[in-house]
Amino acid sequence: GDGARVPALIIGSGYGGSVAALRLAQAGVDVHMIEMGKSWDTPGSDGKIFANTRTPDDRSFWLRTRTKQPLSNFLGFPIDKNVSRHTGILDAEEFSGITVYQGRGVGGGSLVNGGMAVTPNRERFGAILPSVDADEMYDVYYPRANAGLGVNEIDRAWFDTTDCYQYARVGRKHAERSGFDFVYVPNVYDFNYMKQEAAGNVPRSALAAEILYGNNHGKKSLQQTYLAQAAATGRVTISPLHRVTSVTPAPSGGYTVTIEQLNTGGGVTATKTVTAGKVFFAAGSVGTSKLLVKLKATGALPGLNNEVGKGWGDNGNVMCGRANHMWDATGSLQSSIPTVGIDNWEEGGAFAEVAPLPTGIETYASFYLSITNTPHRAQFSYNAGTGGVDLNWQTSWKQTSIDMAKSIFDKINRKEGTIYRTDLFGFYKIWGDHLTYHPLGGAVLGKATDNHGRLHGHPGLYVIDGSLIPGNTSVNPFVTITALAERNIDKIIDTDL
Ligand code: FDA
Repeated sequence: GDGARVPALIIGSGYGGSVAALRLAQAGVDVHMIEMGKSWDTPGSDGKIFANTRTPDDRSFWLRTRTKQPLSNFLGFPIDKNVSRHTGILDAEEFSGITVYQGRGVGGGSLVNGGMAVTPNRERFGAILPSVDADEMYDVYYPRANAGLGVNEIDRAWFDTTDCYQYARVGRKHAERSGFDFVYVPNVYDFNYMKQEAAGNVPRSALAAEILYGNNHGKKSLQQTYLAQAAATGRVTISPLHRVTSVTPAPSGGYTVTIEQLNTGGGVTATKTVTAGKVFFAAGSVGTSKLLVKLKATGALPGLNNEVGKGWGDNGNVMCGRANHMWDATGSLQSSIPTVGIDNWEEGGAFAEVAPLPTGIETYASFYLSITNTPHRAQFSYNAGTGGVDLNWQTSWKQTSIDMAKSIFDKINRKEGTIYRTDLFGFYKIWGDHLTYHPLGGAVLGKATDNHGRLHGHPGLYVIDGSLIPGNTSVNPFVTITALAERNIDKIIDTDL
């Protein structure tokens, strides 16, 4: 309630926030989590909590009046449609030059993402987080994160025969014929549940094109894992539809946190202040960066250093499709959960997920999301004119990522005698180079913070989310975000409480 005092306040309920909440609560600390999105626990008029990708509705997007689907076109035709403004689940946040997709709600990105749970190759870890002890990460914290998240692997024999992964088997065949390393990728979607879906025994989710706007079944999002465990301690309370707007030192010690309560139309219905002993920024790379940059510039947190807002990257995301020959049909039934990838990181700087295109009809298309080793990093800065925070991303920077992705797909196209699809991102547009799903950085570990996420200049303030990671993880990021949060909160509980 308004005017309350809490020992620990966490801004955001994604991976970093959920790890912090559970571990602090287990250490005996009462925790209050503030989450600007909904709690996603109540069915809509169709009886379902989450909308389907084929029929997006008000629930699908964060405060937009028109959908902004990552794949904007099909057969060259735009597929976006009008919806009413609602605190929906997927935010397509637009900065100049890039649209950053993020999850909104209790569970953050875990609500919307594809569940691909990838631990980076150990040899690459030094380039991802140079100041972090890799032995400790690979011996203790990556295993702890994988266990906490409920990561599982697909049964290879089932993969080889099920209709719903025909598209992935075509992806495998083409990758192998071109000599690329093909890898199976673990996931937090329960593959046993998926088998039951295929057998017709349970309600379908992955096999009914659910992804991006939430999964009604099968996926272990943070609500089912870390947050369920946190709730069971009895020490964690969560305020959904509450947005933190300010954090500033309190005269009596600790921090005064200003919080707006939202209605589902996005309007502010109340403004509250809470005093917190410690504050954990876990609003995601963009959310945390925006808050810190603004609070420094407006004098609310004057002690923050000049590294705040820097080192932001897109994990090198680019998307593309390939048009297959008629004998390489990819199937009308496609599991929305990706489970395989092509690894050309050492040679060409790209790791590509073989992604679904779950349209429900045969498209003869292979679709890919590539993660690339791009060197480009952008910076957030406060705009006094608008009161907002800008990002200086350059559209042309994606060309580096496209070139890296082409190290895979040009070769496959030559080998197979195939071409790129040109109808998925606009009229005659091959590359989905306008977006990222993987924002990282903005409050980089060892720069804006010390080596465990303590913000410089203000004791008792911590960063514990994807903003700590300097722009790239070489693979999908949430396992690394979770493992790093596990490592940092261990240290903080040992030494700061
Ligand atoms: P995260 O973004 O999860 O959580 C931050 C939370 O803070 C959000 O719930 C937000 O609403 C809240 N918040 C922000 N500002 C606030 C404020 N001022 N006040 C209160 N609350 C606030 N990764 C992966 O490893 N495998 C995958 O398969 C995929 N796939 C994928 C698909 C799609 C469509 C997306 C959008 C993303 C992915 N990702 C992914 C990325 C992954 O989901 C992402 O890296 C993590 O969710 C980031 O975790 P964080 O803890 O940093 O923040």
